[in-house]
Amino acid sequence: MLGSFIYSNPTKLYFGEDALDFLGEELPKYGKNVQLIYGGGSVKKNGIYDKVVEILKANGKNIFEDGGVMPNPTVEKLYEGVRIARENHVDLLLAVGGGSCCDYAKAVSVSVNCDDDPWEKYYIRFEEPTCEIVPVGCVLTMAGTGSEMNGGAVITNHKTKQKIGHVFGENVMPKFSVLNPKFTFTLPKRQLAAGIYDIFNHICEQYFSGSDDNTSDYISEALMKSVIHSSRIAMNDPENYEARSNIMWTATWALNTLIAKGKTTDWMVHMLGQSAGAYTDATHGMTLSAVSLPYYRYIMPYGLQKFVRFAKEVWDINAVGKTDEQVAEEGLAAMESWMKELGLAMKLSEIGATEDMLEGIADGTIIMDGGYKVLDRSEVLNILKAAL
Ligand code: NZQ
Ligand code: ZN
Repeated sequence: MLGSFIYSNPTKLYFGEDALDFLGEELPKYGKNVQLIYGGGSVKKNGIYDKVVEILKANGKNIFEDGGVMPNPTVEKLYEGVRIARENHVDLLLAVGGGSCCDYAKAVSVSVNCDDDPWEKYYIRFEEPTCEIVPVGCVLTMAGTGSEMNGGAVITNHKTKQKIGHVFGENVMPKFSVLNPKFTFTLPKRQLAAGIYDIFNHICEQYFSGSDDNTSDYISEALMKSVIHSSRIAMNDPENYEARSNIMWTATWALNTLIAKGKTTDWMVHMLGQSAGAYTDATHGMTLSAVSLPYYRYIMPYGLQKFVRFAKEVWDINAVGKTDEQVAEEGLAAMESWMKELGLAMKLSEIGATEDMLEGIADGTIIMDGGYKVLDRSEVLNILKAAL
């Protein structure tokens, strides 16, 4: 452990089959007006919406509907959410859904009392909120992003073809999140797989960096092993509560600020995937799976020892009589076959990207400098070509 840091995470979590019962304990802490945020309708079909509304009414809340949050929420939808919150003097933004609803609620929360254009302020100039923030609560229905316990809020601008995340601080993180693994039972398998890979890649992004002996890396290995194990059970037996609960809990810990502490982090798979997402509007986890292997195979020589460790510790590769390069490649090959087992998109063409988009995707890829190799634009383009 080398780095110095402050660790604090203010989100209170309620986890388990009865987690929603605790919503009634949280609601009295906030004013009467609640903006009820949800997506394209899954929560109405599976009954979660009705349960939440019942609890809101029992607590005397005025409900202001804000449905239709799309996967990869757009800047236009953000403006609409801000308008709803302003018109109704909202006291609490309650997101009932996956990462998209939760992210969107956070983006609205920092924009309601702010005169500036939120896209320009937070996603182009990366400024911090300077106005009063409306509190956010979350009832999670999909495991993956970690949005339930972090400050991330990713917004897509289709006009400018940009998908950008702002990681806000503690004051924007959800005040509370309700995590009932049973709420994820109705997820289509494709979304389940995408969420599982999102979890795994969040861990990779924080693992493949640095060379010191870091406690975070040991935690990361345990989280990766847990998600691989539970993914195989949940994909075959979608109503296996134990597997679903492990996946949900792993998702939270994969990106709730803990494992990034004391070390540098990479995030280039997310930068490549997000830019591809701006062009294709594809499911987040699938954009990551499509670019991962070309990226990791390219940077492997620059962080060889970590890839060897990954192969041995996470994938149980036997290193006897093999070179480091062979061991590292066998680790990535094991990851590749697990990804195929999950049915993930393995190529950008599978998520709707075409060759003529690649220059634009490269331009939109934000280059981070925490990983084993700081890429230049031509390297980004070559990775995208290999991923097509
Ligand atoms: O919209 P509805 O009808 O609710 O359907 C959703 C949506 O179509 C469906 N779904 C969710 N829960 C369900 C369900 N369907 C049936 N049963 C359920 N229980 O699943 C679809 C995807 O939902 P979405 O919320 O978009 O998925 P996810 O949780 O993966 O969130 C993706 C967004 O989060 C951002 C992504 O970029 C993307 O915009 N991210 C946020 C991060 C953060 N806050 O730190 C980090 C991530 O890396 C990611 O970038
Ligand atoms: Zn992600």
